[in-house]
Amino acid sequence: MTDDDPHTEPVAPARTDGGTKGADDVTLDPWGSSTVADYRKLFEEFGIETFDALLADVPNPHYLMRRGVIFGHRDYEPVAEAMANDEPFAALSGFMPTGDPHIGHKLVFDELIWHQQQGGDVYALIADLEANSARGMSWTEIDEHAESYLLSLLALGFDPDEGELYRQSENDELQELAFELGAKANFSEFQGIYGFDGETSVSHMQSVVTQMADILYPQLDEPKPTVIPVGPDQDPHVRLARDLASRMRYFKVTKAYASFELEDAERDLVARAYEALADNEDDVRCSDAAAWLESEAPDDPALESAVAKLDAGGKEPLRPRVRFFDRNATADAFEALIEAIDGEKRVYEGHIDSFELDREAAAELAREVELDHGGYGFRPPSSIYHRFMTGLTGGKMSSSDPASHISLLDDPEDGYDKVKAAATGGRETAEKQRELGGEPDGCPVYELYAYLLAGDDDGLATEVYDECIGGDRLCGGCKEQAAELMAEFLDDHQEKREEARELLADLDIELESSRR
Ligand code: TRP
Ligand code: SF4
Repeated sequence: MTDDDPHTEPVAPARTDGGTKGADDVTLDPWGSSTVADYRKLFEEFGIETFDALLADVPNPHYLMRRGVIFGHRDYEPVAEAMANDEPFAALSGFMPTGDPHIGHKLVFDELIWHQQQGGDVYALIADLEANSARGMSWTEIDEHAESYLLSLLALGFDPDEGELYRQSENDELQELAFELGAKANFSEFQGIYGFDGETSVSHMQSVVTQMADILYPQLDEPKPTVIPVGPDQDPHVRLARDLASRMRYFKVTKAYASFELEDAERDLVARAYEALADNEDDVRCSDAAAWLESEAPDDPALESAVAKLDAGGKEPLRPRVRFFDRNATADAFEALIEAIDGEKRVYEGHIDSFELDREAAAELAREVELDHGGYGFRPPSSIYHRFMTGLTGGKMSSSDPASHISLLDDPEDGYDKVKAAATGGRETAEKQRELGGEPDGCPVYELYAYLLAGDDDGLATEVYDECIGGDRLCGGCKEQAAELMAEFLDDHQEKREEARELLADLDIELESSRR
């Protein structure tokens, strides 16, 4: 296990970007030891959305969702919707076999297993190419850790008959997809996203396109909503995968108002002008819209460029339409799309305008034609993000400091001792604690209850919290209870790992790499 294993790293954060952006900008670094000092920044600067806002739409939410451990998401709505409507959806996550699995990985194992229990197609992969290329792990070490991750995943309840396990190095289909995706990304982009430079090895870069392929892999048989449960340090990967998913598409579907193209902000302005004018006039001409905007939206930052385009359009009437751009379509697919569009349409060099389809129907049609002509029709993958756990010693959870975390392989007695020795959010004296109450927020022991020990029992998690806040719970007893639960959990988990050995041996996954 390395110090900056993303699943352990509590906190990762926020590293400043060497000057390409403002010095205060936060970056998330999948291989760095950044910390999330401030989760709010993730919402404000990266556009991650709060999970709470969507919790009510998730059928039967997992306790990690109910307790805010899963705090954020990108575009999880389609997954929740598919779940609620019994439609296909998938979940996938990957594990770098750089050390022993620990309680941080358990969060992700549990998230995958839960999605499987909700009816999803679930994939778990061993990121051995990444461990080798980005972390310099030897294949011997990789094999040993890989097996251990798989045993814990199975022991926690992953059903290998329903789901798929693979290792990157042995999956040819994955590597072919990675190659294709690599054609849509370039080095400058990797520099911008990951801070790669002239010293970065080509294999490390290849491990990025491999992860992009991992993320889209569940959609190889058919496009479907797919969630990637990970820590927020992996968000750069998720954003790139969402981008690549759309760059692979045959057609891009947008809304348009005239023959020329508009940027998003300009289009919003033109839409406003059109709505305002169409009530009174049959033909709203570009020049009318320009005049309207100059008087109604004089301060809009997009005004100048929108007006310039509208003026160039002159007497051309504005008419709302959906536009299909040819991105990667074969000539056959482009022809087939023209055929498939019902109603009034106009065909141009690299695009087609349809005047009767709405945006949603258009998107569906574009995907159908793409799938019929050999494309993937990828949907942008979604993600959910869990909080990093505080280290037991109070600082960050660090793999180089065994006292700060609990490995799933720790001897139950060691687990017990680590919990007993953990830092707490308690007061200096029992007296003060009774008077003021403890501080469970940020208390590593409370986190153990909430993230793991209370399991599905919200009653227990709430009881610990309320009693702590109310001064009715003292840290000694609280830790004793947690330590016992931890020892029990480890004991039980390790027994199940042993039972899973036979199952694992029968599975179609290579435990010994042919590489050395
Ligand atoms: N990069 C991830 C890590 O550092 C591992 C990983 C590889 C992964 N492929 C993935 C995670 C696909 C989620 C989805 O732990
Ligand atoms: Fe943490 Fe328990 Fe102490 Fe509260 S009573 S501060 S939850 S150890």
